[in-house]
Amino acid sequence: MAVILSKPEYEASIAASRDRRMAWWREARFGMFVHLGLYTVLGRHEWAMAIENWPVQEYEKLADQFQPKPGAPKEWAKLAKAAGMKYMVMTTRHHEGFSLWDSKANPYNSVNYGPKRDIVKEFVEACRENGLRIGFYSSLMDWHHPDGGAAAYDSAARKRFNDYIYALNEELLTQYGKIDILWYDVPEPMQNWEGWNSLEINQRLRAIQPDLIIDNRSRLDEDFGTPEEHVTAEKDRDWEACMTFNGLSWGYVDAAQVSPYSYNAQRILRMLAICAHGGGNLLLNIGPAPDGSVPPEAVEPLTTVGKWLAQYGECVYGKVDRISDTWGYGSGICSISIKGNTVYLWNWIWPKSGDFTVGGFTTRLKSAKVLGSNVNLKFTQEKYRILFSDVPREPQDKIAGVAVIALEFEEKPVFLRFPARPPLIDGKIYS
Ligand code: GLC
Repeated sequence: MAVILSKPEYEASIAASRDRRMAWWREARFGMFVHLGLYTVLGRHEWAMAIENWPVQEYEKLADQFQPKPGAPKEWAKLAKAAGMKYMVMTTRHHEGFSLWDSKANPYNSVNYGPKRDIVKEFVEACRENGLRIGFYSSLMDWHHPDGGAAAYDSAARKRFNDYIYALNEELLTQYGKIDILWYDVPEPMQNWEGWNSLEINQRLRAIQPDLIIDNRSRLDEDFGTPEEHVTAEKDRDWEACMTFNGLSWGYVDAAQVSPYSYNAQRILRMLAICAHGGGNLLLNIGPAPDGSVPPEAVEPLTTVGKWLAQYGECVYGKVDRISDTWGYGSGICSISIKGNTVYLWNWIWPKSGDFTVGGFTTRLKSAKVLGSNVNLKFTQEKYRILFSDVPREPQDKIAGVAVIALEFEEKPVFLRFPARPPLIDGKIYS
């Protein structure tokens, strides 16, 4: 093992390789999160063990009932691909401590108990078959391990627990070929990176997988931020919003009961618009049912989103220009994303009046067309606004009712903050 770098040296070294390691991730925009574990059998939140205070030996018995069908990961991966997602992240071991792979470090696993299969292996193969990048979610907290709590105050227990966490992730990163993302979660009970030995552990793990991308939940900043249950751009760093499908639970909950809370295609597209606007990613979760199947409430919306992306993907994928200063275009009836000279106007409500106006851009507009169609829009341009006329009155998107207009400017578009427009006096606007 090479020398362990100091924190500043380590951070400089990962910053230096970040553009290379994250090039694909920054263009991918959309991934699938999958929460599967023994909690799936209970079907009432992945924290059930803690919330309901299950004794460990009693909870362990759930393993016998945990029987996801062979090939279930193929079903998830096919859906992810059809949805236009580019990567997947699966819970290899959640807080309950049950590993879904053939682990030597943790005999409490899906090869020794329950399905007697290596679900991680099935997951990896399914991702590869569908051309999806691969991420491993790995909890730091462990409610099953005898040192998982004592590590907080007993240094011998902490040492054993740190070694255990390293051993688990070492297995995951050596047994399955190239892995793209290590997605840590919940660094409890230790409150700093020293307590987790994250500086050393992460360096050793990166030595196994030099292209690895690591999230920010091991009490080190690492590669990207993880806003949870809200889609909010993070300043000056890469970010990925992780979202449940229903605002209630990451693990499976009876589909019929959660359906009223679940996202439809339009809500998912709105989340994607914020990601494309702010240059982040969306990691949208499914919690497969006990038999491993995808909950029906996720299938239709995701399939619709995939069809939409097949037509309009240009405004979502690839290198976007991050925008922070477009008041009114982040969350109103139009959203925008920008790539170079092109502004994509996402129309949540189609202007049925036959005309509409866009304010704020002062750059000369060259052309305006409905993305994925031959419809070019007529316009005239004043200093502070662009007026479109003879706009087809019927909504221009048949897939999800969200048409995108590509506005191609002569140069990189300049946007003036509202209300930087008439009737303000010209000179004052720029002063
Ligand atoms: C939270 C929860 C966990 C879930 C995770 C996903 O940290 O503790 O149950 O897996 O969010 O981001």
